Amino acid sequence: MMTTTDSKGLLITFEGNEGSGKSTQIDLLQERLEATGRTVIKLREPGGTGLGELLRDILKTPKDGVAIDPVAELLLMNASRAQLVRQVIRPALDRGEVVLVDRFFDSTVVYQGYGRGLDINLVQKIIDVAIGDTRPSLTFLLKVSVSVSEERRATRNSSNPASRDRFEESERAFFERIDQGYESLSTSASDRIKVIDATHDIQTVHATIWNHFETFL
Ligand code: TMP
Repeated sequence: MMTTTDSKGLLITFEGNEGSGKSTQIDLLQERLEATGRTVIKLREPGGTGLGELLRDILKTPKDGVAIDPVAELLLMNASRAQLVRQVIRPALDRGEVVLVDRFFDSTVVYQGYGRGLDINLVQKIIDVAIGDTRPSLTFLLKVSVSVSEERRATRNSSNPASRDRFEESERAFFERIDQGYESLSTSASDRIKVIDATHDIQTVHATIWNHFETFL
């Protein structure tokens, strides 16, 4: 299986539950990489293309009277991903750029597989169709407990009620399954997935990520 280390660029993904501080850490890593002269592209899933952002709205914003079955959710997430991989990620890697993505296929394994309870083999097959050989070389899993995630979401949603999305309407047991899913993935893919304690302060978390990155290089 080809990895992105075989092409000129580098694909790095970020994972974690809500409120784990992924976007802050992606911004800090981007800044630091750009300071070393690298060209960096920052993306998010679902989203990152015209089609992907339309699908993101469908997937995240509840619409009156519109149900989304878990299998439909799986396919929509991967429709967004198929477009992102072909339209943006592969060309950027071919140009030798660093691509940072806020969530990638691990989120599907964890949310649609562990969270929604879909068969993991089915989930994996759909992911394979969407990504082909385009796989991350390195994944940072930012870990905070389910309770810390809940507190951080509550704080964010009280200052901005519109930020509460369709996934956040799920019950606590869903988020506990997400947590277990990440735990199990990080054990089975421990070479690629670096688990980071995201309860530390922002700069400490960034320093840990940077150390892993330098070691990886
Ligand atoms: P976020 O951008 O705020 O992290 O929101 C994306 C939401 O979509 C988040 O709740 C996780 C969920 N998600 C999935 O369920 N499956 C996926 O494959 C991806 C990429 C995200």
